[in-house]
Amino acid sequence: MQINDKSGVKNYLANEARYNEMTYNRTGQSGVLLPAMSIGLWHNFGFVDAIQNGRDILRTAFDLGITHFDLANNYGPPYGSAEENFGTIFKKDFKPYRDELFIATKAGYDMWPGPYGNLGSRKYLIASLDQSLKRMGLDYVDVFYHHRPDPDTPLEETMGALADIVRQGKALYVGVSNYNSEDTKKAAKLLKELKVPFILHQARYSMFDRWVEDGLLDTLENNGVGCIAFSPLAQGMLTDKYLNGIPKGSRAAKDLTYLNKETVSNNIGKVQKLNVLAEDRGQKLSQMAIAWILRQPQVASVLVGASSSNQLKENVKALDYLDFSTEELKLINGIIS
Ligand SMILES: NC(=O)c1ccc[n+]([C@@H]2O[C@H](COP(=O)([O-])OP(=O)(O)OC[C@H]3O[C@@H](n4cnc5c(N)ncnc54)[C@H](OP(=O)(O)O)[C@@H]3O)[C@@H](O)[C@H]2O)c1
Repeated sequence: MQINDKSGVKNYLANEARYNEMTYNRTGQSGVLLPAMSIGLWHNFGFVDAIQNGRDILRTAFDLGITHFDLANNYGPPYGSAEENFGTIFKKDFKPYRDELFIATKAGYDMWPGPYGNLGSRKYLIASLDQSLKRMGLDYVDVFYHHRPDPDTPLEETMGALADIVRQGKALYVGVSNYNSEDTKKAAKLLKELKVPFILHQARYSMFDRWVEDGLLDTLENNGVGCIAFSPLAQGMLTDKYLNGIPKGSRAAKDLTYLNKETVSNNIGKVQKLNVLAEDRGQKLSQMAIAWILRQPQVASVLVGASSSNQLKENVKALDYLDFSTEELKLINGIIS
């Protein structure tokens, strides 16, 4: 039965068929299965955004079998607001489904003023996760990441903090993000000694950014750690949205640091060629870009963002056709290299 809540939105009952279509991949050599596609809350979930749209995206995700939601302390804007909005949505819609969800958060970027609100100290990580749990209304997260390497804090201290967080029951597993291959090896060694389950490395990976192929994926495989690939659509560039200019309201129109009009215009020639190839495969460009990442056996999940539930519905169809011929891979290499 569905009952209207005070906002006029129907109470949420998850789709009974939610596990019928999604593929679940083992992450590294752990016991954890992740959906081949996960949803991130970096954009579109802050106080500056319409919470009802975010709620719709998360409901759609879960109904599609997307059990993994990815957050960080600083997602918003303002910082912390994506976690707070998620907490509101979680309380209304997802509380009964907590054990069906795999929820991540992170700390590593600047979060609060002064010397203890940034980077990789034990002081910062433990305080930050406590704040995140409060904002989200959770007792624990499924995975807690160190968000970026900190060259000035001993790795022993950062990994020791992750270990204690697990021992305190505040996270079940740990991960790192944006670590290079060498630092990942060192982190894996330390976490193994500490007997802490290091299951995920979150790395930017798309047709426009292939750095993980240069050693990191091998390191992950050798250490039994899974890769979760973020910004697989290069923030929207690897879709058909910029083919005819920059639409109002799109991420590039907002001219943010990581994606702006200039980046789009520098890459549009490649995007046009890739789009033709995708059409020849009978796929949308977004779907081909996602399938291309999932060809790597080390990638457990592709972590997408979406500004509408329709985008998510389009993207998830990538999973219907993941195969590439040698010829197609050669053509793609030719375009993107
Ligand atoms: N660990 C890290 O350092 C780090 C860094 C970045 C991201 N992440 C994680 O990765 C997640 C995903 O990152 P991302 O948002 O950059 O990923 P992305 O999937 O590459 O880009 C998502 C954006 O592309 C556009 N889009 C998506 N599907 C589309 C479609 N079918 N058609 C047209 N446009 C489409 C939307 O932008 P419009 O607004 O233009 O519609 C959407 O917000 C984040 O939410 C976060 O959880 C982690």
